[in-house]
Amino acid sequence: MCGIIGLLKLNESDSGIHDIVEGLKRLEYRGYDSWGYASINSSGIVMEKKIGRITKATFNHPASIIIGHTRWATHGNVTEANAHPHLDCNNQIAIVHNGIIENYLELREQLIKEGHTFKSQTDSEVVTHLFEKLQGDLFERAKQIAPMLRGSFSLVIMDARYSDQLVAIKNESPLAIGIAEKEAIFASDPLAFIDQTDDAIFLTEGDIALAKKSGNKITFEFFNYLTNNSVTKQSTKLDWKNQKIELGEYKHYMLKEIVEQPVVMRQGMNLDSAQDLANEMHNKKVIAIGCGTARHSAVIGKHILNKIAKFPLEVMMAHEFSYFVDEIDKDTVILAVSQSGETADVMECVRKAKKRGLKIISIVNVPSSSLARDSNKVFYTNCGPEIAVASTKAFSNQILAFYLIAFALSGEIKKQKIESVIGMLDKNISYFDLKAREIAEYLKNKVHVYILGKGVNFPIALEGALKLKEISYIHAEGMPSGELKHGTLALIEHGVPVILICPTDYTYHDSISNGLETKARGAYLIGISDKPHPSFNMWIQLPELSKEDEILYPLLETIPLQLIAYYTALALGRDVDKPRNLAKSVTVK
Ligand code: G6P
Repeated sequence: MCGIIGLLKLNESDSGIHDIVEGLKRLEYRGYDSWGYASINSSGIVMEKKIGRITKATFNHPASIIIGHTRWATHGNVTEANAHPHLDCNNQIAIVHNGIIENYLELREQLIKEGHTFKSQTDSEVVTHLFEKLQGDLFERAKQIAPMLRGSFSLVIMDARYSDQLVAIKNESPLAIGIAEKEAIFASDPLAFIDQTDDAIFLTEGDIALAKKSGNKITFEFFNYLTNNSVTKQSTKLDWKNQKIELGEYKHYMLKEIVEQPVVMRQGMNLDSAQDLANEMHNKKVIAIGCGTARHSAVIGKHILNKIAKFPLEVMMAHEFSYFVDEIDKDTVILAVSQSGETADVMECVRKAKKRGLKIISIVNVPSSSLARDSNKVFYTNCGPEIAVASTKAFSNQILAFYLIAFALSGEIKKQKIESVIGMLDKNISYFDLKAREIAEYLKNKVHVYILGKGVNFPIALEGALKLKEISYIHAEGMPSGELKHGTLALIEHGVPVILICPTDYTYHDSISNGLETKARGAYLIGISDKPHPSFNMWIQLPELSKEDEILYPLLETIPLQLIAYYTALALGRDVDKPRNLAKSVTVK
């Protein structure tokens, strides 16, 4: 994963290193086990690397060329040596890398034979030694080196002997260049340069970019090593509306992002886009793909499309799609669901599907993402940046998108119905908060939690369990309640918490029966329903929906489960926004 950044300023500035560290903080969602930066001063490269969260730079010398990195370890433990940047043997070249160099072992072996000394266990370090080995200016060397690398990579490279330039290479992992008046900023995500500029160039597969000081301006040159041609690139104006990141009065981004959902859902009522996607899907076979929370929303979408529009949607995990793509009918439409629009497994599906000639439509949050740019039609969930690693508001707006698409497919967008459910969330959010705190007090001492649901409520159970395990580290399992008696019931004993999602919809009676089966074996039953039941030890009361609107219950069930996960993690003293081992945007396979 990792976030990379590179800054080239026309003039030396005291704030350059500070700017890089601030930019890195905005990329921290991509990985946060260690970080580092390197700059050039009169005596060569100055570098600092640290383990843990991004804090402050120790150095603060005037600089005009700086690169930085925030890491999510893939190759090599979390150590200072493995943190980026990586230097060559002479400490003249520094690189930062996002992605995986698949053929690094053979390159490394060869470089060691040739006398290079490696200081880290990373795959990335080979690149810096390749730059050391070859001759020519940075751009020329990049053109020679890029075709030697296999895998996914975005790289920013600097060389103390060429202190007027930065070079970058992009293949599969994202890279953008922010163009400001007197500086150019390379970054994995334009969010890193939100304070500097709204002008950006997005590099595409195989691009090599050179940014160079030239008189009183910075010039750019582009070459594509896959087509072996020079290329010209146009900049795009970014829309930073709704893109500000402020924690405000909240203790954690996760809580803020949960609580703001009713507002964000109103922002996500993108009816025209829903109609556009419905038009693309009409009479077609559609396969939805996604990972993690986004895949859960797609499974909910399958139920929603089926109930509202009688539309059959197939859902696949993005990382399994590759095994099927060659057999998929060419007329099939791929519906990619992703908050970031950068998840490596999703983007690989998209590339493979495009190669097969399939149409790509998507539900995506980040407007400037690779997925948004690679799709034929996009539904923007319009949530603004989601910072907490555990996805909450993006999930609700993905579900919302599925409702709107389903309504569009059925010929009648029932906007008012959705608005009325959002109004219910407004009214009930403080009550949900209160109940979630009580439930968290019970869950915090437990080792296992089971969350059950049927029909459309089953993927909500999956999502509730995912939230709980990713931030509290308690083992939680989301299950179709009908499946329980085929094995998992053996694990239910006295006091084991079972959360039963059982609104009075088409699943109610069967769900209650399954809940009673756990209760008979000693389960501590926590009901999430609009109706009380004597078997519930605790109950979160949902607002009641009419029979006609029962398919909308998932919009009401989600927030209570998110809050339960939040308060349980809080009670256990977990790092709620940045849980261990995880990252928000998973840009490696
Ligand atoms: C990571 C995040 C999850 C997210 C998944 C898919 O695992 O931690 O919260 O659901 O990636 O991300 P995407 O950006 O494609 O929705």
